[in-house]
Amino acid sequence: MSDRAKALSGLAVFLVLVAFPTWQTLGAAGDAARPELELPENETECIEETEYMSARHMELLNEWRNAVVREGETEYTSTAGETYTMSLTGTCMDCHDNRETFCTRCHDYANVAPRCWNCHIEPEGS
Ligand code: HEC
Ligand code: HEC
Ligand code: HEC
Repeated sequence: MSDRAKALSGLAVFLVLVAFPTWQTLGAAGDAARPELELPENETECIEETEYMSARHMELLNEWRNAVVREGETEYTSTAGETYTMSLTGTCMDCHDNRETFCTRCHDYANVAPRCWNCHIEPEGS
C-alpha cells in the first residue's frame, strides 16, 4: 500500500467510527441517505432534545402508554420542565400532524412498521 492509500484508508476508518453512532440512531447530521422529513412549521423544538427523540421516541411512547393505562397518569413533565398530556394522537400528532411525511417516511427507510394506527385515530386533516 502506498503512503497515500494508507492515509486514505486510515481516514475512512476514522470517518466510519465517528459517524457510526449517527447512522445507528438515524440521528440528525451526517446521514446522506436519510429521507427528508417534514417538521412542524410553527414549532422549533420537540418535547425533549432532538437526538434523544430520534433515538428513543419508542421507549418514551411505551412509558407514556404504561403510565396512562396502568397508573392512570396523564401529565408528562419534560426535562426542560414543560408539561404535556401523555397522548400519541393528542400531543405527538398535534405537532407532527402529517404522519406520512414524518413518522412513516422514516419508518419505511428504517424498515419498521409500528401498528399503533389500528386503534389510535389521527387528528382530522392529516
Ligand atoms: C389494540 C389497540 C391498540 C393498539 C394496536 C395500540 N394501542 Fe395505544 N392505547 C390503546 C388504548 C385502548 C389505550 C387507552 C386509551 C385511554 O385510556 O385513553 C391506549 C393508550 C395509549 C397511550 C396513552 C394515551 C393516548 O391516548 O395516547 C399511548 C402513548 C399509546 N397507547 C401508545 C401506543 C403506541 C405507540 C402504539 C403502537 C406501538 C399503540 N399504542 C398501539 C389501544 C391500542
Ligand atoms: C410542541 C411540538 C412537538 C411535540 C408535542 C412533539 N414534537 Fe417531535 N419534534 C418537534 C419539532 C419542532 C422537531 C424538530 C426539532 C429540530 O429541528 O431539532 C421534532 C423532532 C422529533 C423527532 C426527531 C426527528 C429527526 O429529525 O430525527 C422525533 C422522532 C419526534 N419529534 C417524535 C415525536 C414524538 C414521538 C412525540 C410525542 C411523544 C413528539 N415528537 C412530540 C415538535 C414536537
Ligand atoms: C428519524 C426517524 C424516525 C422518525 C421521524 C420517527 N421514527 Fe419511530 N422509529 C424509528 C426507528 C429507527 C424505529 C425502530 C427502532 C428499533 O427497532 O429499535 C422506530 C420505532 C418506533 C416505534 C416502535 C415500533 C416497534 O414495533 O417497536 C414506535 C411506536 C414509533 N417508532 C413511533 C413513531 C411515531 C409516532 C413517529 C412520528 C411522530 C415516529 N415514530 C417518527 C425512527 C423514526
